[in-house]
Amino acid sequence: MNNSKLDISKRLKKYLSPQVFDLLVKCGIFIEENSANLFLVGGSLRDILLNKSPKDIDLTLVNGNSELVEKLAAYIGGQIIFKSQFFTYKIQVKNSVIDITEARKEIYSSPGSLPEITSKCSIDDDLYRRDFTVNSMALSLIPSKFGSVTDPFNGINDINKKQIRIIHDNSFSDDPTRILRAIRYSIRLNFKIDYKTLSKLNEFKNNINLITGFRVKNELIKIIREDSRSKILLSLHNLKIFDIIGLKININNQINKILDTFQFKKEYTDDLILIGILTYNLDIENIINITEKLYLDSTYIKTLRDTQEIKLFLQNIKLDNLNNSSIYKSLNPYKDEAIIINSYFSNTKVSNKLNLYLNKLKYSIPPLNGSEILSLGAKEGPRIKEIINELLYDKLDGKIKNKNQAIIKVKQILNS
Ligand code: CTP
Repeated sequence: MNNSKLDISKRLKKYLSPQVFDLLVKCGIFIEENSANLFLVGGSLRDILLNKSPKDIDLTLVNGNSELVEKLAAYIGGQIIFKSQFFTYKIQVKNSVIDITEARKEIYSSPGSLPEITSKCSIDDDLYRRDFTVNSMALSLIPSKFGSVTDPFNGINDINKKQIRIIHDNSFSDDPTRILRAIRYSIRLNFKIDYKTLSKLNEFKNNINLITGFRVKNELIKIIREDSRSKILLSLHNLKIFDIIGLKININNQINKILDTFQFKKEYTDDLILIGILTYNLDIENIINITEKLYLDSTYIKTLRDTQEIKLFLQNIKLDNLNNSSIYKSLNPYKDEAIIINSYFSNTKVSNKLNLYLNKLKYSIPPLNGSEILSLGAKEGPRIKEIINELLYDKLDGKIKNKNQAIIKVKQILNS
């Protein structure tokens, strides 16, 4: 690929939806009219240069301010749905979301700390604060320069050479999360890590200890959302990154296989399931250590605790010998994600029963509701709930097949 020969407009049209392409053209026109400059940057441009559709649209605004972003949002018929004190904005226009950041410089006072941010800088300054050459390019969107690429660190050359390269020697010490990012990109894109970059990565890998658990968690979540999550985790494991962070994560063949075949399901929280898979084989102290180190919230804590409780229960009880109501009663207190995690580690018979609960039993509704039971002569109080449950259990076990049978059962209960 040669910079001068890049027919970038063609590529933009090919890899962006017509709505997003038109939106970017419109944004460029408005920004130039207002004497500012606008660029497509970061992963969005990288992916287009790699002949892929970008998952996000990241723009950098030079010579602008929050007022201009507000006017821009109005001009394109969108709404600012997020705004931070770090000069970043999210604008939604119909189904599309674009991320805009004011060009900024970052100054790291100590390794691993969050940077001090100053806005009002050039696009070159903004590109210099970034992690890797392939992420440090900008494509002009204003009409007079539409499609011209700013590539101060030879990112296009690195795309051609299929390599991940830092843009300055302090990149990893400034921001050690980039160690995780380097591995993630190299495996996702099937790029090698350039020789000097790898030596800097090894030199600074102990600094990964300096970043907050919250930031480690964010990077870990990005990793587990990747298709090649198991390869990335294995690579981090081999580099002893988890040991440095103090996270005991057991990567073995079984876990790798599960991670490789994992399918995202929109009705569940996949991040919970994936973290549960990663920690399934650990003892409880290590699980607690992970939840504390990564500041995992109460949903994670409940899921991981439920996972271990179900695991223990399945070790002691043969689920395939239980009737449906007992399966329902046993699994109902637990989070669905914890049940799914256990199903990945169970034999076919047990996992079929767990899936029976998740896909069918869990959705069963009692054949009569509270007011119907009251109308049969029951007195208000906690007993109603007990009767509703009895009816549900009988329905699950096939003992009650319709409303009439349920009414007969209620009358028997009330007369006994
Ligand atoms: N960035 C950085 N250092 C970081 C995080 C981000 O320099 N620790 C810069 C990179 O230029 C990156 C951009 O900010 O391209 C946006 O970050 P992010 O959304 O995390 O990554 P993307 O490049 O969009 O990549 P992905 O495909 O993983 O979303």
